[in-house]
Amino acid sequence: MTVLVTGGTGYIGSHTCIELLNANHDIVVLDNLSNSNRVVLERMEKIAQTKITFENADLRDHAALEQVFKKHKISAVIHFAGLKSVNESISEPIDYYDNNISGTIILCKVMQKFSVKKFIFSSSAVVYGNPETVPIKEDFPLSTSNPYGQSKLMTEQILNDIFISDNSWQIALLRYFNPVGAHKSGLIGEAPGGTPNNLMPYISQVAVGKLDKLHVFGGDYDTPDGTCIRDFIHVVDLAKGHVKALNYFEQNKNKDVLTLNLGTGIGYSVLELINTFQKVTDHNIAYDIVARRPGDIVISYASPELAEKTISWKAEENLEDMCRDTWRWQSQNPSGYEAT
Ligand SMILES: NC(=O)c1ccc[n+]([C@@H]2O[C@H](COP(=O)([O-])OP(=O)(O)OC[C@H]3O[C@@H](n4cnc5c(N)ncnc54)[C@H](O)[C@@H]3O)[C@@H](O)[C@H]2O)c1
Repeated sequence: MTVLVTGGTGYIGSHTCIELLNANHDIVVLDNLSNSNRVVLERMEKIAQTKITFENADLRDHAALEQVFKKHKISAVIHFAGLKSVNESISEPIDYYDNNISGTIILCKVMQKFSVKKFIFSSSAVVYGNPETVPIKEDFPLSTSNPYGQSKLMTEQILNDIFISDNSWQIALLRYFNPVGAHKSGLIGEAPGGTPNNLMPYISQVAVGKLDKLHVFGGDYDTPDGTCIRDFIHVVDLAKGHVKALNYFEQNKNKDVLTLNLGTGIGYSVLELINTFQKVTDHNIAYDIVARRPGDIVISYASPELAEKTISWKAEENLEDMCRDTWRWQSQNPSGYEAT
């Protein structure tokens, strides 16, 4: 089937495109390149050994989006495009709601007009707020404290309402935990502009000498080593989850919106991640433990059981693989895609 991948030159989108091509799907990549680079497309073509159809367009440009749907016979949409920084969303809420909510609504309108009703949405563990217990299951209470999280919760609500109004839609809400790692080729990976917001790219930029030192926020939490615990998941495993969700759409009549956690089910602390990275790469990571950061969730890891039961998906790569693949990408591309 031909899949429109919005945000397809971004970090998770690019890896998912490769897995879609591996599974013999045709793809159309749509991106406005606001947080990615044309070089990604060349790299994807190199990995897949095929030409990739690219549409340089903004989701919020209704007319341009209609043209894309006129031009290509699209059967399904995987929707990655959006803004993703919690901190930036607090200072720029209008941009975040415009991009993440208005963009999605325009996309849904165009899909409805062209009767394209298979939709996979990038949601996030951010929708669980501060969970009372772990592992986190899909039916846990939802809450969030920032505009980014709100935009994910609102989009989930919008998509649930669309399904209630017309159950011929097939919708998956995939809640990602902490994507890290890179493609084994070392050709594509996470390339944040400016100072990274996420831990793994920060660690790898310290290792490569771009940043001096890592700040670990809080070393006195009620966890075995005092640092926060997260469910790190290899981006290629995550990408495969999208292909599995599409397979599920093809093989099953949908009874409901498919809401699934994509995580490993294992929680690792910040210090465990640093130590594993050091061991696997043989590089020292300079770090300081500093004060807690307000708003940080202490322990978050998924129950991935529902995804395994429903779409037969399970993460396969371990923490060492994640560190090794991140380092291959970072060391081969010290400045991300910039210098190429
Ligand atoms: N990376 C994470 O830690 C994480 C965790 C949970 C959920 N998510 C979600 O997964 C999705 C993908 O994340 P990512 O890490 O690949 O981010 P990314 O920034 O690397 O990719 C997003 C892509 O969307 C494009 N884009 C943004 N706004 C657009 C618009 N209006 N029109 C067209 N293109 C637009 C950007 O240029 C970028 O290439 C996002 O929706 C994000 O919120 C990410």
